[in-house]
Amino acid sequence: MSAIDKPENPAVAESAFLKACRREPVPHTPVWFMRQAGRSLPEYLKVREGIPMLESCMRPELVTEITLQPVRRHGVDAAIYFSDIVVPLKAIGVDLDIKPGVGPVVEQPIRSRADLERLRDLTPEDVSYVTEAIRMLTAELGATPLIGFAGAPFTLASYLVEGGPSKNHEHTKALMYGDPELWADLLDRLADITAAFLKVQIEAGASAVQLFDSWVGALAPADYRRSVMPASTKVFEAVAPYGVPRIHFGVGTGELLGLMGEAGADVVGVDWRVPLDEAVRRVGPGKALQGNLDPAVLFSSREAVEAKTREVLDAASGLEGHIFNLGHGVLPTTDPGALTRLTEYVHEQTAR
Ligand code: CP3
Repeated sequence: MSAIDKPENPAVAESAFLKACRREPVPHTPVWFMRQAGRSLPEYLKVREGIPMLESCMRPELVTEITLQPVRRHGVDAAIYFSDIVVPLKAIGVDLDIKPGVGPVVEQPIRSRADLERLRDLTPEDVSYVTEAIRMLTAELGATPLIGFAGAPFTLASYLVEGGPSKNHEHTKALMYGDPELWADLLDRLADITAAFLKVQIEAGASAVQLFDSWVGALAPADYRRSVMPASTKVFEAVAPYGVPRIHFGVGTGELLGLMGEAGADVVGVDWRVPLDEAVRRVGPGKALQGNLDPAVLFSSREAVEAKTREVLDAASGLEGHIFNLGHGVLPTTDPGALTRLTEYVHEQTAR
C-alpha cells in the first residue's frame, strides 16, 4: 500500500512524544498516563455530572474539555482522545451500555453465526462526533500531540461474547477453541471495524494511535499467535500507510511482548510486571517501549513514588525510545497531585 500524505503541524511532529515513538533523541522522556482523563480529576467529575458515560463520548465540546483537562493540569506530553473502546460498537448499533463501577455490558452477547451478522461495518458518518471533536481538539492542543485509540479485536470480542467484564473469559475461550472458524470471522469483522475507527481519528488529526488489548494476557503465546494475532496485524496494516506511530498495549502480557511487537506495533506498551530492560530483550530491536510504573505505587509516599520511578527510568536508560507511562490506567481514587508531581519528576530526571 502506498503512503497517505497527512498534513501535520511541524511543532507536533517535533514533540518529545513523537520523537520517542520514532526512537529519535528527545529533550526529556515524554510522559502521558493511560486513563489520564477521568475519575481521578475533580474537574472531570464536575463536567460529567448527570451525563451517562456513552452520551458524554458523543458530545464534541465535552470530549474536548475532558481530553484537555489532564494536559492543563499535569503538563503531560500527549493528550489521549476521551472515548471508550466500546464506542464504535455502540455506533454500529450494538445494544450495550457502560455501567458505572462495572464497565461495558452487552444486552445480547455474540455467540453464534447469526449473532455475528449483527456487526456491520463502521462508516465515518457513524462517528461524525469523533471527527468534529478531534478537529476542535487539535486546534486547542497546539504543539501537544493527540493519541487516538481503539480496543483490539480480542478485548472487544471478550466483552461481546461474555456480555460484560469477565475474569476467566470462559465463553470467549469456548468459542475460540470450539468454533475456530466463527471465531476467526468474528475477529476479522472486529479488525475491520477497529481499523475504520482508527482511520477516522487519524484523518481528523490524531498523531498516534494506541490499540488496547487489555485482556489478551489471558492467552498463551501459541493461542495468541494462531487465534488473535492475524486480526491485530490486519488493524496495524490498515493504518500503516498514514505513517503515524502505532502503540500496542495489554495487561499481563509478559509472555506475549515479542508477538505483540511482531503484530505490527512501532511502540510496545508494557505493564509493571516486566522491567523495561527485560521487556526490550523480549520485544527485540526497532521498537520503542512505553511504561511502566505500577499505578498502585501512586498511593504510597512521595519518596517511595520517586524511588520506584527511578527504577523504571534506570531500566529504560539503554532504550532507543522510551515513553513514560503507568503499567495500566490511572486508578480512580489516585491523588491527582501525585500525577502532576510524577510528570515533573520524570521531566526533571531525564532533562538532557
Ligand atoms: O484518559 C484516557 O485514557 C481516555 C479515556 C478512556 C476511557 N476508556 C474512558 C472511560 C480509555 C482509553 C478507555 C479505554 C478502555 N475502556 C479500556 C482499555 C484500557 C484499559 O483500562 O485497559 C477498557 C478495557 C475499557 C472498558 C471500560 N470502560 C472499563 C473497564 C470501564 C470502567 C468501569 C468502571 O466504572 O470502573 C469503562 C468506563 C470508562 N471508560 C470510564 C472512563 C473515564 C469510567 C466511567 C465514568 O467516568 O463514568
